[in-house]
Amino acid sequence: MTERASSAHISPSAHYTGYVWYRHRLAEPAFVTGFGRFVHGLLSPISWAARVGFDLDIEQLLLQRHLQIDAQLTAAIEQDGVTQVVEIACGLSPRGRRFTTRYPQLRYLEADLPAMAARKRGLLGAQGWLGARHRVRAVDILAEQGEQSLAALFAELDPEQPVVVITEGLVNYFPLALIESFWARLAEQLRGFPQGRYLTELYPDLKEHPRYRQLRWGVGLIGRLTRGDYPLHYSSNEAIAEGFQRCGFRQVQVFDPSRDAPALGLAPSRAAGLVRVIEARA
Ligand SMILES: C[S@@+](CC[C@H](N)C(=O)[O-])C[C@H]1O[C@@H](n2cnc3c(N)ncnc32)[C@H](O)[C@@H]1O
Repeated sequence: MTERASSAHISPSAHYTGYVWYRHRLAEPAFVTGFGRFVHGLLSPISWAARVGFDLDIEQLLLQRHLQIDAQLTAAIEQDGVTQVVEIACGLSPRGRRFTTRYPQLRYLEADLPAMAARKRGLLGAQGWLGARHRVRAVDILAEQGEQSLAALFAELDPEQPVVVITEGLVNYFPLALIESFWARLAEQLRGFPQGRYLTELYPDLKEHPRYRQLRWGVGLIGRLTRGDYPLHYSSNEAIAEGFQRCGFRQVQVFDPSRDAPALGLAPSRAAGLVRVIEARA
């Protein structure tokens, strides 16, 4: 089996995060799957122990990344006139539904591996939520050519309009060299638009962080549950910015969502942040 074909093992994790978004009132009930509810229940003793024992709140960490990406996307739409969004590795995220409801002029293209894309299309279609402005399509970030490649995905966009591309919950499933090759191809595609920016989250390798050992244990668990690895990338904000610049992004901002959690509608964070959100412009 090639490395490309093997990334399908990641897809089940989307059911868990989908359930977390629903629990925190970010998603309607249609986004809940039985598997997502089951895995959430199965992991709840571990989440509880991490919260009580190590002050590590897994759901808050997920919400920090999700809401910071929402905040950056809102600013891109309201302040910079972005009219088209592509959410790659969309899984069961409700963001497309929320943003197309809030901004009726927005065109939103969700994309994921073929099986997950079909599932999402079925889910949204059954509710009557799909149309010319909100679509779902198959993509494989590892495909360098063909129907599922980035080039084919971008060919469906309007090259005259600014665009935002999002990935969430994706990059740390891949070794750095592989994900950097995706970023380099993405930056190249984004240069074809009057404004092209990329929003993603990333879990860096913060060895000095007081919760580093617990984080390593947590990511080891994610790796075992998804039958793969979950490598941490870069060891500082500066290293993140340099990495994205090497991939061809011209301007890079790194956000620590824990710094201003109340502005995102979250409880203030006691511990230093473990997740970063990156806004990179091509
Ligand atoms: C942890 S889920 C995140 C889903 C969603 N973004 C969220 O935050 O709830 C990871 C997603 O990455 C998708 N994925 C895995 N490998 C991929 C690839 N090579 N190309 C595109 N998507 C991929 C999976 O199918 C899955 O939906």
